[in-house]
Amino acid sequence: MSIQQENIAKLVDRRAKAVLGGGEKRIEAQHAKGKKTARERIALLLDEGSFEEFDMFVQHRCTNFGMEKQHFDGDGVVTGCGTVNGRPVYVFAQDFTVTGGSLSKTMSEKICKVMDMAVKNGAPCVGLNDSGGARIQEGIDALAGYGEIFERNILSSGVIPQISGIFGPCAGGAVYSPALTDFTLMVKDTSYMFLTGPAVVKSVTGEEVSQEDLGGASVHASKSGVAHFAAENEEEGIATIRELLSYLPQNNLEEAPVKPTSDPYNRVDDSLNEIVPDNPNKAYDMYRVIRSIVDDGAFLEVHRNFARNIIVGFAHMNGRSVGVVANQPSILAGALDINASRKASRFVRFCDAFNIPLVTLVDVPGFLCGTRQEYGAIITNGAKLLYAYGEATVPKVTVTLRKSYGGAHIVMSCKQLRGDINYAWPSAEIAVMGADGAVNVLYSKEIKSDPERADEIFAEKKKEYEELFSNPYQAARYGYIDDVIEPRNTRFRVIRALEFLASKKQELPAKKHDNLPL
Ligand code: HXC
Repeated sequence: MSIQQENIAKLVDRRAKAVLGGGEKRIEAQHAKGKKTARERIALLLDEGSFEEFDMFVQHRCTNFGMEKQHFDGDGVVTGCGTVNGRPVYVFAQDFTVTGGSLSKTMSEKICKVMDMAVKNGAPCVGLNDSGGARIQEGIDALAGYGEIFERNILSSGVIPQISGIFGPCAGGAVYSPALTDFTLMVKDTSYMFLTGPAVVKSVTGEEVSQEDLGGASVHASKSGVAHFAAENEEEGIATIRELLSYLPQNNLEEAPVKPTSDPYNRVDDSLNEIVPDNPNKAYDMYRVIRSIVDDGAFLEVHRNFARNIIVGFAHMNGRSVGVVANQPSILAGALDINASRKASRFVRFCDAFNIPLVTLVDVPGFLCGTRQEYGAIITNGAKLLYAYGEATVPKVTVTLRKSYGGAHIVMSCKQLRGDINYAWPSAEIAVMGADGAVNVLYSKEIKSDPERADEIFAEKKKEYEELFSNPYQAARYGYIDDVIEPRNTRFRVIRALEFLASKKQELPAKKHDNLPL
């Protein structure tokens, strides 16, 4: 064998060892937990054969606690780039088979390298997390590594899409990197996120709770809102990340890719003319409206199980990516509360940062009231959504289907918040409040002073109020909405509005940054 042949054989051998990470036994243990390895996850995420790996031979530099005797090529994370549906994506996947995927300083350097390359090349960065947190043997050096990653998450925010998949433990301060990214996806039963685990919780507060109930996918996808997606298994989770990427541009200077469709842009749906019940207190399902107006009925919902009184997600309309925000009248009558405001404002800001037009479907009776909401700062949280819509410069098309009352009317992308095209269905009621509430405020003295005619006065005044305000025509008269449209034409009218708005240019005043009500 020549020296060159020997060198190549050594390389092949070293690569073969490196791809095994912590070794076959640990890979088996990983599989036994129902989890995939870092490399298996990357293979599922990227287009076949597109993975270009970096830093396969990086090793940690720690010499504490016998670490100098434990070296693995790659050191607990697999990093590189590849393509998803033909478009470049940078990726890191923590390898639990090497010291539990715990973060060493060198591992953070590998992660930071791909994060920097993602920004430099204007491509999304996807992190697949499965780690025991800071590598204990490295002390402050491991913490510094987290700091380096967090700073890059912050600087990349609004420049490239950042997506975090949680495929195993994610504890301590490590949870803050996913929290700083745009979307977090968790896998049911095998992933969890918390600041401290059940044992520490018990010793500090006495509370007994399982890992799943403390920080499992269901908890974060429905109660805290920390996770935007909860997948049944890893395959589904990675497929969701691929699907999500298909709606997004590569960076903040580009448009999302156009997805050709055979769904006619001028398709009408007669059933929409019948969807709003005659009784204004009866609910209907907003998903039916969304699926009816978007291309091929395809809708990627974000935060499906969190704050279900508002719906947010991505769709295509005549091939263009749009962000849909819609009140859901069948949950809490579609009222806005703290969580709905947080959920929608984050989504609106993401869409605005990445040039994705907003389509808003309104049926909102107002903000939810009461001490729980007030003590939880519904004022500040509601203001977030107000702020998000008001600062957004992407095309904004709004359709009011039914109720649009009070502050919630203003918040939901009204004309005065620089809504571009605002349509209303004939069933729209755009007013300060509903008829019952208004009559009670305006005529309570009159009603109380004449108990015999109380019902009569109430009915009379209600009718007067309804004729004046429970329709879209007062708003249309003032130009606050641009047109009253037949529901069945909604798809066509929204698409046409978006086509005309495609060249929209709007700037914000120069500033260091805004001070939105956090
Ligand atoms: C070094 C670690 C490690 C860590 C796990 N390992 N976590 N090594 N530093 N943080 C090692 C284990 O010693 C073991 O090595 C291997 O990884 C697999 O771990 P197991 O415990 O056998 O696996 P499992 O039973 O599945 O439990 C996984 C686990 C548990 C729940 C993650 O390992 C654990 O609780 N780890 C510590 C979590 C933690 O408290 N991390 C620090 C959080 S604070 P061997 O050689 O035996 O296979 C933090 C600060 C960040 O991260 C601050 C940012 C600002």
